[in-house]
Amino acid sequence: MHSLSETDQICKPHVVCLPFPSQGHINPMLKLAILLHSKGFHITFVNTEFNHKRILKSRGPNSLDGFLDFHFETIPDGLLSSDEDAADATQDIPSLFDSIRKNFLAPFQTLLLKLNGYVNSTEFPPPVSCIIPDAFMSFAIAAAKEIGVPCVSFRTSSAVSFLGNKYLPALIQKGIIPLKDPTYLTNGHFDTTLDWIPTMKNVRLKDFSVFTRLTNTDDLMLNFVMEQAELASESSAIIFNTFDELEGNVLDALSTMSCPPLYAVGPLQSLINQLPENSLISIGANLWEEDFECLQWLRSKPPNSVVYVNFGSITVLTAQQLLEFAWGLANSKKNFLWIIRSDAIVGDRNITLPPEFVEETKERSFIARWCPQERVLNHPSIGAFLTHCGWNSMIESLASGVPMICWPFFADQHINCRFACIEWGVGLEIDASVNRDGLEKVVSEVIDGEKGMKMKNKAVEWKKKAEEAISAGGGSSYMNLDKLVHEVLLNKP
Ligand code: UDX
Repeated sequence: MHSLSETDQICKPHVVCLPFPSQGHINPMLKLAILLHSKGFHITFVNTEFNHKRILKSRGPNSLDGFLDFHFETIPDGLLSSDEDAADATQDIPSLFDSIRKNFLAPFQTLLLKLNGYVNSTEFPPPVSCIIPDAFMSFAIAAAKEIGVPCVSFRTSSAVSFLGNKYLPALIQKGIIPLKDPTYLTNGHFDTTLDWIPTMKNVRLKDFSVFTRLTNTDDLMLNFVMEQAELASESSAIIFNTFDELEGNVLDALSTMSCPPLYAVGPLQSLINQLPENSLISIGANLWEEDFECLQWLRSKPPNSVVYVNFGSITVLTAQQLLEFAWGLANSKKNFLWIIRSDAIVGDRNITLPPEFVEETKERSFIARWCPQERVLNHPSIGAFLTHCGWNSMIESLASGVPMICWPFFADQHINCRFACIEWGVGLEIDASVNRDGLEKVVSEVIDGEKGMKMKNKAVEWKKKAEEAISAGGGSSYMNLDKLVHEVLLNKP
């Protein structure tokens, strides 16, 4: 990778990274920050006070000291209910959306003033030269304008979900949202075909967006997502954690809309893995404490034999769904590693798995609260990933060559699932309501069946393509990252 010229080094460029305050957004932002740091940028990384305390709690009070030479700062999240001492870390997303609109800009502006106040000091940091907010934190565009630096949005989810969000106003205009009749979701209907949207010819209304289920358009989340998609397009560029070979047609479609230059620089972790100092970097922004014992357990299992089950940081299950997953896994007779967050079950926190399930599966299961996911996915024992289709999980799975059993829950996950199953050939979707018999069949098919073999081959093909994309010998993501730095981040707006 090209590093900065001597002049750039003298006045070191300074990027302020501002993730949306949840795990699935903090992780990719931290990875991007590590890559920019490797190119000579000074990094200020801004978490909410709540998440910063959670990270220190899960990793240890001094865990961020000397993390590369990053400068960690915080702003309040404006939520009265944020109690960092609570056992559970998942915050209410609609409340966060609302608070971002109302409460984040002023403290962020104050922080920028503070950072630029060091200008005349001999100490770090150098003046802020660019801001990279999450694409859901577009208030930062105004703050960047005020101090005269470029603002580059980072869309941490798939490009296709961004395209979908850009088309939500058109669906409202055509009367497709709000939903007229629930049967439109499952049966298809001439009023609801989506083939007029580029790249969406195989997409059903229920896959397109969680918002196609709405029966009114006043929904806070719908309006926030549409507003942010428009605002992100006003930034100097948009970065995606994807790669051209995977989502090139979607990126092409986006580039014909009113979008700034788009840079696909994923999979980010794969780019980090090839940094010379990689072995020194322990990526640490977990809001839960990782259980490393599962890696030991995986070592005792044969290759491709384990189903890894993890629904990310926000998804919750009902007690009934928990039971259906449990018995589906038990009846499949396969090995499984199941991560169940302490706050993953709706309602009664004290619900436990039935003792007869625990007894029956004790030789072939490992259950933990949180794990080092990317190390798990790269373990040769993993045969399939039962996932909620959060974008990080999907791109991490693709980069590891692991096929997926898909149970999309909300947000961008339905469209990610559809593309994994239909366009990329690496996924098999299970019913939203989850039933044990259905799950048992799918697990057996993916681990032992012909379909599973095809999916595995496809996943390995994508892994190779991802490796090519990050290759220093002209891979698309490798080159795009270089272009992003030189065409945008080092430029004046
Ligand atoms: C959320 C949304 O749900 C998702 O759809 C969106 O794309 C990003 O924000 P989340 O639900 O947490 O994210 O899922 P995901 O995108 O998969 O991100 C979870 C991250 O946490 C991944 O990077 C994963 O590696 C990490 N993780 C998860 C762990 O390190 N350990 C775990 O046990 C679980």
